[in-house]
Parts: sequence; C-alpha cells; structure tokens
Amino acid sequence: MIIKSQKDNLLSIVVDTLVVGIYEDVKSIRDELQLLDEKIGDTIKEMIRNEEFKGKESEIAIIHTQGRIPAKKLILVGMGKTKNFNEETIRKVSAIAIKAANKAKSRTIAFDLLQDINGVDIQKTSQSISEGALLGLYTFNKYKTNNENKQTYISEVYILTNSENSKIDEGINIGVTLAKGTKVARDLVNEPANYLTPTAMANMANEIAKDNGLEIEILEREDLERLGMGCFISVTQGTEQPPKLVVLKYNGGKNEDEVLALVGKGLTFDSGGISIKPSAGMEEMKTDMGGAASVLGAMYAIGKLKPKANVIGILGLCENMPSGKATRPGDVVTSMVGKTVEVINTDAEGRLVLADCIGYAKKLGATKIVDLATLTGACLVALGTTTTALITNNEEWMEQLVKAANEANEKVWQLPSFPEYGELIKSSIADLKNTGGRYAGTITAGLFIGEFAGETPWVHMDIAGTASSTKESGYISKGGTGVAVRTLYCLAKNLEN
Ligand code: BES
Ligand code: MN
Ligand code: ZN
Repeated sequence: MIIKSQKDNLLSIVVDTLVVGIYEDVKSIRDELQLLDEKIGDTIKEMIRNEEFKGKESEIAIIHTQGRIPAKKLILVGMGKTKNFNEETIRKVSAIAIKAANKAKSRTIAFDLLQDINGVDIQKTSQSISEGALLGLYTFNKYKTNNENKQTYISEVYILTNSENSKIDEGINIGVTLAKGTKVARDLVNEPANYLTPTAMANMANEIAKDNGLEIEILEREDLERLGMGCFISVTQGTEQPPKLVVLKYNGGKNEDEVLALVGKGLTFDSGGISIKPSAGMEEMKTDMGGAASVLGAMYAIGKLKPKANVIGILGLCENMPSGKATRPGDVVTSMVGKTVEVINTDAEGRLVLADCIGYAKKLGATKIVDLATLTGACLVALGTTTTALITNNEEWMEQLVKAANEANEKVWQLPSFPEYGELIKSSIADLKNTGGRYAGTITAGLFIGEFAGETPWVHMDIAGTASSTKESGYISKGGTGVAVRTLYCLAKNLEN
C-alpha cells in the first residue's frame, strides 16, 4: 500500500472513495464541497438538514455518486466539535473511513482532511492521516487459513491538497514510519509463544537492526551468568528456551549528549513459574513481552527517522516456566549491581528481569532511562485499559515523558512514589523482596525497579492495561496495540538540541 500527497480537487480526483470531514458545530459546508454537493443533487445538505448526518466524531455515511463526479463513492466522516479537534481526531476518523472503504472493496482512496486549526498544521495532519489509515487497516491473520473476511483491498491512499507543500510529504514519511513501528510491536504481541520464543524475537530484532543501521549485541545465558545477572537468570531457570538480552544502539547525537535507554520487559510467556497462574486467561500471558515489543517498534522508527539523539534499546527476553530447575519462592538471588532479592513470588518476574537490564543500561552509559513493562494486574485495577501508569525518581524527566506522551496523544498517569511505599519491598533476610503485598501493587513494583536505576533519571511505564486491547476501536485493533511507540519516538526527538 502506498500513501502520497496528490494535488487535485474534489470535483476532478479519480478514486474509488473520496473522504470528506464534516464538523458537528459548523453549520454551512465549505465552498468546494458545496460545488461537489450541487453535482450530487444537494445530497449532503439534505442529509445534514434531516439530521441523518450530524458530524459527530467518527460518524460515517457512504454516498454513491452515480458517475456525477469522478470519485465513485463519497464517505462523509464526522469530525466532532471544532474545539475538541486534535491529531487524535484525524487518526480515528481516517481509520474509520478507510475501514469502511476497504469493506466496500475500494482500491483507491483520497482523504480531503488537511487542516490547520487548533495548532495542528498540515504536516501533523498528513502524519496523523497516514498513521490512522495504516493502523486502521492493520490485521493479524497469518494463522487463518481462510482470509476472506479480512482482506485488504486498498492499495493507494492519496492525501488531497490544493498546493504542493513538502511539509505534507514530511508528515506522511513520519506517520508511515511510526505506523510501521507500531505494527512491529503489534505483530510481536499477537504472535503466540510457541512461535515467538526469546530466540525468535532476538532474530527479529537482529533483522530490524540490520535494515535500519542500528548496532546490535545479543547476550546469551553464559553472558548473563558472567555479568552476574542473578535476578534475570532466576526467571529463566525453569524453561528450556534460552534467554536473550538484546541491545540495540542508535548514535544520532554527539558523544557528550545524553544517552537515552529504553528498556523493555520481554517475557515471551509468563506462566507465573512455581507460583503458577490460574488457567483462566493464562493464554493472555503471551503478550507479556509488550514492553520489549514497543521498545523494538520505537527503535525501528528512530533508526528510520534519525533524530539527533543517542538511544539504546534493551530487550530482556525470556520465558517464565515451572520445572524442577525453576526458582522457588523464598530463594534469594543477587542482581548484577550487587543488591540481593528474596523471591517471594515467582510470578513477580518482570521486575527481576528489568532490574538486571537497567543495571546493564547504566553500565552502557545511560544517562536517562525509561522502562516499559506489562508489569502488574494491579495497574488494570487502578487505571483500566486506556491509561499507562508512570512512576519516577526524577520529576523533570517525568515532565519530559508526559510532554512526549501528550504530543503522541497517548494517555499516561503518574502514580506517587512516597518513601512509605518503598518500605513495603524491604526483605527481612535480603536487601529487597520482589512483592510488596496486595495493596499499591503497581507502585511497589515500580519502586522495586527504581532501586536499580539509583540516581539516574528514570521513568517506569506500566503498560499492563494498554499493551493489548480486547476490542477494536478507531485505529486500535484487537490484540496488540503498539502502545508507547509514538511516545518514545517523540521523547527521543525532543532530546535534539
Ligand atoms: N505479567 C504479569 C502482569 C500482568 C497481569 C500483565 C495481567 C497483564 C495482564 C506479571 O508478571 C505478574 O504476574 N504480576 C503479578 C505480581 C504479583 C505476583 C505481585 C500480578 O500482577 O498479579
Ligand atoms: Mn508474572
Ligand atoms: Zn509477567
């Protein structure tokens, strides 16, 4: 599928489907659309007058043009109220419209949605159209032997413009790349754990690194042992699958610049280990590598778009399984940085893997850290499935992360990190224990990881609720969402100086 800008107008463009946006609170239709409407017998005016079409966000109507204009079908899409308009509106409506066009077996589609309002300029609009269109059409059907219902017919997407402007093409390039990075993450999250082993995921990371000029280093079990990563190893002890610690490096900045480390939890399956999970819903734990998937998706985008910043991506890949070799509750293990941990519950494994990955990030010279993890069920209880929970040891770094998330229109919410919470993860026989009890589970899990970040500015993102979705809506598909790929790219981009 290709996306490109097209200098043309509503009355002459030749496509299967033409998409126009209608705001809820704008009473008249603009001049060019007025001319189009006259050609099709004032259908739009009539629909609006009869309140058949109100312009509510994501509302949709398909009009057959019967050869009265070159575009075969017209899709009206509701833009909602002007005051609520932002990039997210564009992403959503582009996704809704392209899905409707695809369902109608259109092969070519043109979006007449470029705008310059509420601080959203044409570059950002064309970026958002590209993201919405590509992500809206995302499907994961490689294991379906009969694909009839999920076929993609759309092959050409045009962004309609009345004057050539390189900003539009720039927006398309960024949008397409971020959508592809998001797709990298979604595909990995959707992949079942018998196919997506730590080895398979490391191979995927290797391909992405080679294609995008990133340096890559893959640490094997022996390397983890040599480095003294006792926390990481304790998690991977029970499985036959070899663990992999993948490091991807992008050096777009100067030597003296900040080094941003993006660290992802990559449990390709989390059975809970000896503290085994109940069977109901356990299949969802194939998505427990969502943090590492989003880091890889972001590194893809960073490698392609080349911001002037230094970024390291670290993926902690392994499987958490019970066996005769598995870690027992009560075992004490020693992390790479030397802190000892009493393993109270082998199902609180993500923080153990991240503890050593963050230790390694610091060894590699990270000056700023963000970790991402499908870390706690408690996060779903606290914030549900729309919002990522954040914890930090540095308010300024937190502000930068929140700014990046706002730019990407991804919802985040900071949780407190008062010292009282830290008390809950002190062990009576080791430095730390890996669970802090039933209450404030997302906070204590985050603070456990923070112990390993030490003084380095760090933000933890708990994406347990946001990494996958149980239903399709707008540009979000069922299954993996690729959450935070856009946020992480914005964060890296904002490090440019
Ligand atoms: N991967 C899970 C967290 C999770 C749960 C992610 C549901 C997505 C959906 C994590 O490893 C885990 O098992 N956490 C435990 C921690 C507890 C043992 C302290 C949890 O949340 O129950
Ligand atoms: Mn677990
Ligand atoms: Zn887990």
